[in-house]
Amino acid sequence: MRNLVLCGFMGCGKTTVGIRLAKERGMTFVDMDAYIEAQAGCTIAEIFARDGEEAFRAMEHEACLTLGAKEDLVISTGGGAVLREENVAALKQNGMIVWLQVSPMCVLARLQDDTSRPLLQRPDKAAAVDRLMREREPLYEAAADLRIDGEADPDEVVGAVIAALSFNQCVNINDLDL
Ligand code: S3P
Repeated sequence: MRNLVLCGFMGCGKTTVGIRLAKERGMTFVDMDAYIEAQAGCTIAEIFARDGEEAFRAMEHEACLTLGAKEDLVISTGGGAVLREENVAALKQNGMIVWLQVSPMCVLARLQDDTSRPLLQRPDKAAAVDRLMREREPLYEAAADLRIDGEADPDEVVGAVIAALSFNQCVNINDLDL
């Protein structure tokens, strides 16, 4: 079965939704950040602090190549995985990309006490979210096969993804020239 790849901004619910989605579909869940941390033997925050963002992006790229080549996975990506075109291509090779779209306000509310995301550990958090969101929305949009509103309760988001996937399958069948 093709992978389901969840993408979207930090705090959009990729991990929570991914775990539930994998359970519903009988697929295996992989959190890309957790995978990178296991490979590196330290946290994402430590990688950023010790080696810098570029080193993290290189590890993220390797993770996209490795996980993108597998099957039957629900993969929750980091919010910046779409920054490299080659990452998107690797994830699409065997998978469908689902974008969980959320507003800057929603991100700020969900991550107000978060200390694990290096890019948001700054006094001007709201401005950083606005800037990154403006840069990244076009990339999520371009990468996504499906766009789902990520602001609802996680169970509703899972339901919306499953409904959209079934609808897609129907449309594909109807498209066939039988
Ligand atoms: C990042 C998002 C994080 C993590 C890293 C960088 C980003 O993942 O990969 O801190 O550039 O948006 P989440 O989207 O799971 O928070």
